[in-house]
Amino acid sequence: MVQNVAPVMAELEPEDFYLLSGLEQGMRFSRWVAQGKIAEFSRLDGEEMTYRLDRCEKRELIERKTIQYTGFRLTFEGYDALALRTFSERETIEGVGAPLGVGKESDVYEARSYKPLALKFHREGYTNFREVNRERKYTADNDHISWFYTARKAAEREHEALRAVYPEVSVPQPVGQSRHAVVMEKLDGVELSKAKLDPEQAVSVLDLILDEMAEAYRQGYVHADMSEYNVFVATDGVTVFDWPQAVPTDHENAEAFLDRDCANIVSYFQRKYPNEMPEIDTERVAETLRDGSFDGIRLLA
Ligand SMILES: Nc1ncnc2c1ncn2[C@@H]1O[C@H](COP(=O)(O)OP(=O)(O)OP(=O)(O)O)[C@@H](O)[C@H]1O
Ligand SMILES: [Mg+2]
Repeated sequence: MVQNVAPVMAELEPEDFYLLSGLEQGMRFSRWVAQGKIAEFSRLDGEEMTYRLDRCEKRELIERKTIQYTGFRLTFEGYDALALRTFSERETIEGVGAPLGVGKESDVYEARSYKPLALKFHREGYTNFREVNRERKYTADNDHISWFYTARKAAEREHEALRAVYPEVSVPQPVGQSRHAVVMEKLDGVELSKAKLDPEQAVSVLDLILDEMAEAYRQGYVHADMSEYNVFVATDGVTVFDWPQAVPTDHENAEAFLDRDCANIVSYFQRKYPNEMPEIDTERVAETLRDGSFDGIRLLA
């Protein structure tokens, strides 16, 4: 997706961005924004606007539809372009590099800056929308606004959680956020799911992860999506990433989420390293994370 946008970025002119952000504002009020409204928000007049609409449509940053009237909306590429523009104006990033992970709910790319960063585009609403579309044959309009809204909310929540727990918890350092995109420190290491740990190390790595969960709890957060796919392991320790669904510890489901997080991560180690792992009651583990008494799973075996 953004692979297409990165080269397009260089060709875009300031007026193209007036158009895109005018359309973004219009989309707060309607799914398909009429030309008159775009003119109002973007402050582009007749001919100039037609020219910009054509340019942006050709680059697939916007799309048009004629029902009773001709309306326009941003595509996700258009939304990507707006976020990239903001990051470049703020000098957060200088360019976009190779993909780091393209998942169901997000696209993550390397970003160039004073040091290598990671740029995560949330696609949450879009994913649901694609699935809904495939499974139930809904028309494209139904979820359009929520599609942008959901992705932006996810990025805001992730950035907020990272800021709240960094640096006490080992998470990627948050660097910036715009719309549906979050910029953060690029992590080295490998995903826990792909890591080949020495069996003797397995218990200590699990302890390190549980220590981070305990610290997150102390800082007021439960991750709520803990799994072997959201932890990086490196020679100097573990890092927990992917925080958009994190909840504050006073959330009504925080207790259930922490129980589930513990069960997920402990059961992964039990499956993968059955001979090394002691029998553990995961709810008891969660309890010690909550009351701050966690001091290694061996003590709980
Ligand atoms: N800060 C980072 N540094 C390096 N790689 C990263 C970083 N953040 C994410 N990644 C890579 O991108 C992938 C997806 O990131 P993340 O888990 O945050 O998103 P996701 O929405 O869970 O994606 P999925 O739906 O596939 O689980 C990760 O598995 C990881 O390989
Ligand atoms: Mg993930």
